[in-house]
Amino acid sequence: MEKSNGLRVVLFPLPIQGCINPMFQLAKILHSRGFSITVIHTRFNAPKASNHPLYTFLEIPDGLSEAEASTQDVTLLLTLLNRSCESPFRDCLTKLLRSSEEEKQRISCLIDDAGWIFTQPLAWSLNLPRLVTNTYKVSFFVGHFVIPELSRERYLPLQEQDEPAEEFPPLKKKDLLQILDGETEVLNSYSDMILQTTKASSGLIFVSSCEELDQESLSQARKDYQIPVFAIGPSHIYFPGSSSSLFTVDETCIQWLDKQEDNSVIYVSFGSVVNISETELLEIAWGLRNSDQPFLWVVRVGMVNGNKWVEAIPEELMERLKEKGKIVKWAPQQEVLKHRATGGFLTHNGWNSTVESVCEGVPMICVPSVWDQLLNARFVSDVWMVGLHLEGRIERNEIERVVRKLLLEPEGEVIRERMKLLAEKVGRSVKQNGSAYRSLERLVDHISSF
Ligand code: UDX
Repeated sequence: MEKSNGLRVVLFPLPIQGCINPMFQLAKILHSRGFSITVIHTRFNAPKASNHPLYTFLEIPDGLSEAEASTQDVTLLLTLLNRSCESPFRDCLTKLLRSSEEEKQRISCLIDDAGWIFTQPLAWSLNLPRLVTNTYKVSFFVGHFVIPELSRERYLPLQEQDEPAEEFPPLKKKDLLQILDGETEVLNSYSDMILQTTKASSGLIFVSSCEELDQESLSQARKDYQIPVFAIGPSHIYFPGSSSSLFTVDETCIQWLDKQEDNSVIYVSFGSVVNISETELLEIAWGLRNSDQPFLWVVRVGMVNGNKWVEAIPEELMERLKEKGKIVKWAPQQEVLKHRATGGFLTHNGWNSTVESVCEGVPMICVPSVWDQLLNARFVSDVWMVGLHLEGRIERNEIERVVRKLLLEPEGEVIRERMKLLAEKVGRSVKQNGSAYRSLERLVDHISSF
């Protein structure tokens, strides 16, 4: 680590796994550049402070009831959190600024997720610069503000669903329809607030993107927002490993992978939020078994609607699955993707998973479920052409077919080669003088200038 520069930054992650990981990656980077780190966090999904002994942690109450904390509705959760955290966060930050003044240690800025919509006016009133982080692909963040307008106009792309959606490339009309399907007034006004508060901030940081993945959208973001925009990722490359996992990681995955042949295993995971039905669980199980390829499959506890874990899989099928595969509750994903045995990733295309897969050169099978995942999947399959798209068909025959195509057939080999080139290109961005590296240098200068 570099010597302390005498400056402190305050981080406030949104308490969901897909936002906590990038925020902690940013924390590690800034700490290595000499900044002291204070993390203000909710009681709900609190990060494990013991994994980060060099940071200061301050917990605030979030007011969530047990039922609210276990909701599957992410918009509702974020709305509730924004409502109930405002006052405790204000008290906590005010106290922190006062004590730092007394101790004569300067707090440079607040860095928090675009999804916290009450922090910008608060930071203003406290005369504290605020930087906004975003964990989406840049093109989704920039483009998704068109969605409220489309839904207000009742845009229903019912015809020619396989045609491109001109309003939001490279989505197809059917993808856009799926996104609009989840639209609500609450979500639309939440999006409006995100746009306004981001524009009013002192800078926007894309922790998991770089020019190589998002050049056009980055130029667009700079033009639209008129604030400094940084794309410093894929930041997990600077400090690999997931010390910020909210789940207990099953480390036996790696020993199991050690016993498999190179590029033979299909890794299956749908991230930390997506749920599936019992029917989908069984179709995936049959598809994997029938593909006759080894597989490592993450099924989170409670991920299958109405089930505790995988009890819906009949015993006989389970025995057959065990011959070829391993089912775990949570995997060390970055290590799994890095492993020489992992040959493909059947994924929901959350942005973190997508970028992690790109960085390790692992081609994907895309099964996007909601929101930005649909756009990420189109980039993977149609723009970069480094994966196959299931087009929503979570059916055993389809799964068997695409797994075999990716792992065993010449088309899979071509996709793998293409992915290798993309991985190299993206990998160069975080090396000295790469685009992400230079952006990070600018970010460090920007924070130091406050
Ligand atoms: C959420 C949204 O669902 C997604 O659409 C958005 O792009 C980011 O925020 P999530 O669904 O959790 O994220 O997916 P993803 O972005 O892929 O993040 C999951 C993270 O958990 C990754 O960093 C991944 O490495 C990690 N993970 C996942 C594990 O470490 N182990 C696992 O078994 C599964």
